Amino acid sequence: MDQQTFAPTCPLPGELGYTLPAHYYTSPDIFEQEKRTIFARNWICVMHRSQVAENNQYATASVAGENVFVVRGRDGVLRGFYNVCPHRAHELFAEGAGKAKNVITCPYHAWAFGLDGKLIHVRNGENVPGFCKDNAGLTPVRVEEFCGLIFVNLDMNATPLAELAPGLNADIRARCPDVDKLVPAVRLSYTMKANWKVVVDNYLECLHCQTAHPALVDSINMETYRHVVHGIYTSQVGQTRSGSEAFTYDGDAPNTDFAAYWLWPNVTLNVLPGDGNYGVFYMFPVDADTTIQHFEFYFRDATPTEEQQQLIDYYKNVLKPEDLSIVESVQRGLKSRGYRNGQGPLLVSDDKTSAIGEHGVQHFQQMVLDALAA
Ligand code: FES
Ligand SMILES: [Fe+2]
Repeated sequence: MDQQTFAPTCPLPGELGYTLPAHYYTSPDIFEQEKRTIFARNWICVMHRSQVAENNQYATASVAGENVFVVRGRDGVLRGFYNVCPHRAHELFAEGAGKAKNVITCPYHAWAFGLDGKLIHVRNGENVPGFCKDNAGLTPVRVEEFCGLIFVNLDMNATPLAELAPGLNADIRARCPDVDKLVPAVRLSYTMKANWKVVVDNYLECLHCQTAHPALVDSINMETYRHVVHGIYTSQVGQTRSGSEAFTYDGDAPNTDFAAYWLWPNVTLNVLPGDGNYGVFYMFPVDADTTIQHFEFYFRDATPTEEQQQLIDYYKNVLKPEDLSIVESVQRGLKSRGYRNGQGPLLVSDDKTSAIGEHGVQHFQQMVLDALAA
């Protein structure tokens, strides 16, 4: 497509006065770069800890296009590995989760590994001169538990997540003290025709709430709504109104705020009003134009209460359709010749806590640019 160029006529404050160029959201080449420079080097949230809370429990996940699994050993230690046999590359686990035996046996030629990844047994290995089991264990990935969730990092030298996001864990636990003990209650899944960054951009501003989410605005006291950037995460917090379309809860619940946190690069942690209402929204990129999103709700009990069902129904029937329509429309619009010079102005005021500022979007887009340049 021809690239028209329009010089900005009205300089804007901030380091990045304009959005990322449109082709960052549509180019397969940039998507491949992002896999290498963002998804293979950062902490990617893959599941709630309840999936691997007990010894021998395992679960597979996809990170930066890589098939990995996490498993809790007989020693209680959680470890992660690429889901590939070092012999001739068969996958060790089929996609899913379950309880592993004490030994992981490859389905192809039955090489056997401990839950710590060490190779234990190779049929015919003892008859092969020079073959050494010590050099043929599983290839590890980094794993961390954080905010009740499991994160994987393919970069073995990565800084621990708790150091990168100081304060987030404490804030989540203050609002949801039993975050580790919750269990998955409901998963809503969507395949969206939108780049993952369009979905994140949309989460990182509430400028659109007034026009797109009337019920949300009616459920939150927007005078109290604050949106703050904290390094690799942001917080959007506002007092809510019980008995509104979205939220109903007891007044003595540990959290009565709408408390929504985005954590770089592609997950949001939402402590919703009530007692133990945790919604984690995963955005898994498929290709430049497609993102799979899972809304997972974790409660004390797998069966939602009446109030929790109201919350789920609000997300499922109201909020999600509103945002789905937005992000797919933006993805189409980003390909339009009429989208001026392929960038739009970001409205960032001096108030970096404003509910209607685009400072969160600006921060995220700068992180994307920095990662791609690294
Ligand atoms: S590929 Fe796994 S044992 Fe051969
Ligand atoms: Fe929205």
